[in-house]
Amino acid sequence: MSWKAIGIFDSGIGGLTVLKELVKAMPQEDTLYLGDTARVPYGTKSPETVIRYAVEIASFLVKRDIKLLVVACNTASAVSLETLQERFPIPIVGVIEPGARRAAAVTRNGRVGVIGTEATIKSSAYTRAIKRVNPAIEVITRACPLFVPLAEEGWISNEVARLTAQSYLAGLKESGVDTLVLGCTHYPLLKEIIAEVMGEGIRLVDSAEETALTVAEILQGGGLLRPVAEKGNHHYFVTDVPAGFIRIGNGFLGGNLEDVHQVNLDEGTAPGGYHVQA
Ligand code: DGL
Repeated sequence: MSWKAIGIFDSGIGGLTVLKELVKAMPQEDTLYLGDTARVPYGTKSPETVIRYAVEIASFLVKRDIKLLVVACNTASAVSLETLQERFPIPIVGVIEPGARRAAAVTRNGRVGVIGTEATIKSSAYTRAIKRVNPAIEVITRACPLFVPLAEEGWISNEVARLTAQSYLAGLKESGVDTLVLGCTHYPLLKEIIAEVMGEGIRLVDSAEETALTVAEILQGGGLLRPVAEKGNHHYFVTDVPAGFIRIGNGFLGGNLEDVHQVNLDEGTAPGGYHVQA
């Protein structure tokens, strides 16, 4: 019997934070990851542009016969999830609903902060999703656009990262939130600095773990979960030269990134059909 892979994409390396949780939850699954490194960041672009990018990437991965697609980018989830779900005939999971659910479950004082890219914050997708779970929760949001280039550069614990975090987070800290949603898949890379700046007693929510549970449930429900005895293979596609992606990704995943290919989405010149035999 052959088993299809799980597709997953982000504008760059941020989605690796979600991939890591997927692999932890389902080590038997094969994955195909695409990082759109030639066009990162998405967070400063218009919804129309991000939707176009997301559709191109989904087409690329769906052609490689994936069984489920994870939009491991909050920006793309915020603006393109519905379009993708309408256009492609496979389950498509975004990261916003899972993160919102977790935040609503863990807040004690009903004040939740959300940080994300300009596009995610402007979309109000988190505020709507959290209020759908509990309309009484007060949601305070803040865009932190410089966190993405810091994470892409691997500047996750130096003085520049600390000062940037202090400047972005001061207002949120004063507002008395007890829970902070890391509403961008790049931000978990800066988790330590963010936790330090926010101080003790603030719960940081990253959607990755909750998203992985959602994916496992969907696959289980559809009889699509690969037997646990298997060990998954992981393949990576990037749209720019792979060196930076490999360097940062290896640091983050502990030296696991081996199979990284540069692809051109326009011309569809990626390595040919991909199939996994069980
Ligand atoms: N990691 C992405 C997100 O979750 C986007 C970062 C960017 O490309 O601006 O929003």
